[in-house]
Amino acid sequence: MMNTVIDTVKERIDIVDFIAEYVQLRKAGRNYLGFCPFHQNTRTPAFTVFPETQSYHCFGCKASGTVFDFVMQREGLEFRETLEMLAQRAGVELKPRTEVDEQRDQLHERLLEVNAAAAKFFHHTLLKSPHSADARAYVDQRGLDATTIEAFQLGYAREDWSALLTYLTNHKGFDLEEVEAAGLVIKRDQSGYYDRFRGRLMFPIRNVKGQVIAFGGRALGDANPKYLNSPQTPLFDKSHVLYGLDLARSTIRNQEAAVIVEGYIDVIVAHQYGFRNVVAPLGTALTGDHAAVLKKLTKRIYLALDADAAGVNATLKGIETLRHQSEGDVIVVPTPQGVMQWGVDTTTEIRVIAMPDGQDPDNVIQADPERWRLLVDNAQPIMDFYIAALTSDLDLQSARGKADAVARLVPLLVQVSNPIEHAHYLQRVARLVEVEDHVIRAALPASQRKTPTRSKSVKQPEFDTPTTREDALLALLLRHPSMRTAVQEKMKSDVSLFPLVHEMITGTLLELFDRADNRAIWQAWSEYPPDTDIERWIATLDVVLAEQVQHVLHIHLPDSQSYRYMNDGLECATILQLRLARRWKDRCSQEEVEVNNDEERFAILERIIQLKQYIDTISIPKRSSMYADLHALRTA
Ligand code: UTP
Ligand code: MN
Repeated sequence: MMNTVIDTVKERIDIVDFIAEYVQLRKAGRNYLGFCPFHQNTRTPAFTVFPETQSYHCFGCKASGTVFDFVMQREGLEFRETLEMLAQRAGVELKPRTEVDEQRDQLHERLLEVNAAAAKFFHHTLLKSPHSADARAYVDQRGLDATTIEAFQLGYAREDWSALLTYLTNHKGFDLEEVEAAGLVIKRDQSGYYDRFRGRLMFPIRNVKGQVIAFGGRALGDANPKYLNSPQTPLFDKSHVLYGLDLARSTIRNQEAAVIVEGYIDVIVAHQYGFRNVVAPLGTALTGDHAAVLKKLTKRIYLALDADAAGVNATLKGIETLRHQSEGDVIVVPTPQGVMQWGVDTTTEIRVIAMPDGQDPDNVIQADPERWRLLVDNAQPIMDFYIAALTSDLDLQSARGKADAVARLVPLLVQVSNPIEHAHYLQRVARLVEVEDHVIRAALPASQRKTPTRSKSVKQPEFDTPTTREDALLALLLRHPSMRTAVQEKMKSDVSLFPLVHEMITGTLLELFDRADNRAIWQAWSEYPPDTDIERWIATLDVVLAEQVQHVLHIHLPDSQSYRYMNDGLECATILQLRLARRWKDRCSQEEVEVNNDEERFAILERIIQLKQYIDTISIPKRSSMYADLHALRTA
């Protein structure tokens, strides 16, 4: 089998010992119980570690996974860093990295150093230089205090063509090429280089680790552009960086909510007034990458948006075009910079903070922080916001008004892929215009009028062992990106009927994977939009993961016709769902034997009953032929 490194690491590190270093665990039957390190809770210990499966699960926040997931979540590390850390602990030697890897790392290291030095220089200039009187007055006039200037390491780039260049090359010994690669200087035609940022208030842009990776610079007056950002560099791709995230991260986790605003100053002012879960994109639309970053921290997102008609109408237009491109599992979000698709699992909750006309969070907070708090508290679920905004100019008593309202709202309804939410909003719209539900349903595209049924399979099985099942599902998902949503929806809807099962099984694709590498791969892939080019994506992966992806992509799968692969994927997922459900059933049965109080026993029995019903529900609907053991599993 592949990836013996990961397997060896897992064998050598006992998850109970490991987690016990972070969390106080007490033995409860065969398992261990403690307070979850991923969400705030001091009453009931909901975090369980299972030695048998070498995994953990929190009944509160639903965090779960292997020791790899634990380290990644807990320390905020990437897969490679996690592997290195655990391998070292396990005394397993990793394959040396290639020369290309080394060179890339060295370049990154150097660019980080250049940026750090530049940030220091700008900061010092702002605080101390006689050339900075105007900048200091400006900062003052914007209401930013000394603590804030420090925390965000604000700085000033003097009105000078080479102040930074001279400092970095003459005093700090950096090469011109390095300074240029960091985007800090621009090459002049004949006579060398000049500073990119001049006469600007400087905002260092930092990654989650707090390292400076780029800069934004604001003109003090009304020079154009108002804000100038670093160009794309090997360190900086503005499409997935969120300004302020390094400072906001832990608060976002603790408060279980993130607030997205529009600008640098909005973030800074919010933090100054104690609203520390606030971040902003860098003058770009929000992207799936931003969503992916935040999804790791919280399931509740607040967006501060302009509530005015212009913005909302632009959104409507955007939705109509997107409607033809996207399939399920996205929510369309208007942002000041345009419409975006927010790729979500349906558990992400997006709320809209409706900004008063013409005001931004900076103004509102500085005028009255309590008003901001109120605006956040009153934020509406995004669909409610749209429904109100898109119908505010209509006369809903008139036939014309009703027709217009339905025409505007149907494109929105189409975006709601969670069946329960979908039904909820369909009803809302129907009530709003005072017609029967079925009138609205008839206005939806055919595919959403009823729940899709799955077709029967006719194929013979060609492979199927416990380990390859996971790989097969991964292979199908990677080869057929459009499958992701369908499988995801099936899993969600399977589990949605059984609230007690839902405590254990969240219904995400991720939890079907046991192998640490498959989990990391799936996590990485699902952060990208479904149409991502797979080769380019592989190039971004750590070698260990890339190898497993190659392995998986070369698995010989039964040769599906195009209309069949969907079925294969759903069946494969079903088998893995069963594996998971059976595992939980075993755990509960064990627990049932171990408890010595009737109340607890009764609670466990209830869970077992629901698990059985769940197992029946997912295994009964169809006879599988591709996966012969589906039948056997059901009757086992
Ligand atoms: P705004 O124009 O709304 O500015 O741009 P602001 O954040 O309110 O700034 P102040 O209060 O006038 O100082 C919002 C964000 O869009 C990006 C910046 O990230 C800015 O914070 N932007 C704006 C640019 O990148 N370039 C620009 O020229 C303007
Ligand atoms: Mn502003």
